[in-house]
Amino acid sequence: MLEFSVIVGSTRYGRRGRIIADWFIDHARRLEQAHWTLIDLAELCLPCIDFEYVAGTNSHPVEAVNKWKTLVGHSDGFVWVTPEYNHGYPAPLKNALDHVYDEWHRKPVAIVSYGGEAGGARAAEQLRLVACELHMAPIQAALLIPSIQQRLLDDPAAGLRDREDRVANLVNELVWWAATLKQGREHPLDWPTT
Ligand SMILES: Cc1cc2nc3c(=O)[nH]c(=O)nc-3n(C[C@H](O)[C@H](O)[C@H](O)COP(=O)(O)O)c2cc1C
Repeated sequence: MLEFSVIVGSTRYGRRGRIIADWFIDHARRLEQAHWTLIDLAELCLPCIDFEYVAGTNSHPVEAVNKWKTLVGHSDGFVWVTPEYNHGYPAPLKNALDHVYDEWHRKPVAIVSYGGEAGGARAAEQLRLVACELHMAPIQAALLIPSIQQRLLDDPAAGLRDREDRVANLVNELVWWAATLKQGREHPLDWPTT
């Protein structure tokens, strides 16, 4: 069975990111028989990056970092849930992305973004560039959620109802890419070289 991780990219007190990630994963689980795991960076509590540790030259064990690497390594595909902060994505998300390298390789990522009128589009586009550098496949299907504050004033499910079709499309695409790339990782094609 395919393994997907939905990563909550905002960590601040009072954030809306967890509400959106919970809503998304609830729909994804109903749509696709796969393992969907929610990873909340606020609960993981990664330290600020220490490249000596990441490179393995510092033997000081950091439990959260090991856990994070294992979670990413076991995943076949990802959903990064990000707000837009000052036309970018949150620093804790970048810190988390940079802690891991090989474990991201040749895996797809879909981006769910939210914010004001632009629905977090600027943060999402920047994350696509980061994903490429991590040897990932950022997929075209995305979910942008504009006017997030107004949508979540009362019932979040009602406020997000018009985005449900997008979730279905995103999940379909992500599953296709995850299955295809998993096959490719496990059984690389023996391409003719001449
Ligand atoms: C530091 C900060 C900067 C923000 N900058 C933007 C921005 O540039 N564009 C935008 O659409 N919304 C911006 N917002 C509004 C957020 O997108 C909105 O508050 C969202 O709920 C934040 O995500 P969170 O609740 O998960 O932390 C900003 C919010 C914060 C806290």
